[in-house]
Amino acid sequence: MDIRKITVLGAGLMGHGIAQVAAQIGKYDVTMRDVERRFIDNGMNMIKDSLERFVKKSQMTEVEMNEILARIHTTLDLREAVSDADLIIEAIPENVELKRTTFKEADAWAPPHAIIASNTSSVSITELASATGRPEKVCGMHFFNPPQLMKLVEIIKGAKTSDETIQTITETAHKLGKETVLVKKDSPGFIVNRILIPALNEAAALHWEGVADRDDIDRAVKLGLNWPMGPLMLLDYIGADTTLAIAEVLAKEIDPKFHASPGLKQMVKAQLLGRKTGKGYYEWTQK
Ligand code: CAA
Repeated sequence: MDIRKITVLGAGLMGHGIAQVAAQIGKYDVTMRDVERRFIDNGMNMIKDSLERFVKKSQMTEVEMNEILARIHTTLDLREAVSDADLIIEAIPENVELKRTTFKEADAWAPPHAIIASNTSSVSITELASATGRPEKVCGMHFFNPPQLMKLVEIIKGAKTSDETIQTITETAHKLGKETVLVKKDSPGFIVNRILIPALNEAAALHWEGVADRDDIDRAVKLGLNWPMGPLMLLDYIGADTTLAIAEVLAKEIDPKFHASPGLKQMVKAQLLGRKTGKGYYEWTQK
């Protein structure tokens, strides 16, 4: 199937980056939708900041930047956002009910041929698909943060996803300059988060237990495992709330051994979520 118009639902940390990559690398006509104007403005500002970095490094001209920005349309209206989309990528908060309602509404208003993909990292694709009348056209399309730089997209097959849908999404991800892996079964955490989240949780536990200081935990993993950033900084970068949500799903759906550490829970209770609230294990400035 030929994808021409992509709609991204959600202008947050992931949504804005996905919209940018679709307009910048894929050269797609993109609509980015959120529920409040301030979220859209914030998303557009993050896109501009990101594009300006490429311009400053002479990797892009200002003319190209403006062309990319002109390909991104914004709206608050879900119906308008999806009514002529070929592909809808959902990147709204990790709340099952909110996502199911959004899938149901998108399904009602999107053209019959449209594929609805979710960027979720913790909700079952099969469960989202069952909120629609087109489960064969629903799949997972999981980007990594920051989507502008991270090469991988996990493509997840729900219980009823068709091979044709998987093929179209794989081709589209390649047009966005991404490498893809196929997750054949809709299993919590897919591949990367099943491995990553327990590691971040253990870093939070080490810190909570006072086994080592923040900087030593991060330095140990950076230097000992060659990670680009330490686990506590990465936890801040992803958000303690998102990390906790994924840990809880892993514990509930796969094995209690994945249970979240008290240290991680404490960060969420204190709203020390990291980059998104300005403070977590580290202080985060606007940029
Ligand atoms: N847009 C454009 N350029 C950007 C950018 C953005 N959004 N963010 C960073 N950059 C650029 C910077 O301008 C900088 O460019 P130069 O080197 O040319 O100056 C370059 O990227 C490196 O950035 P920084 O110097 O700020 O910092 P860094 O070297 O640490 O790189 C990083 C930043 C790419 C994010 C790197 O630290 C990294 O790869 N971290 C790990 C990220 C990761 O693991 N992500 C996956 C999280 S898990 C997930 O997302 C899944 C889930 O479901 C939870």
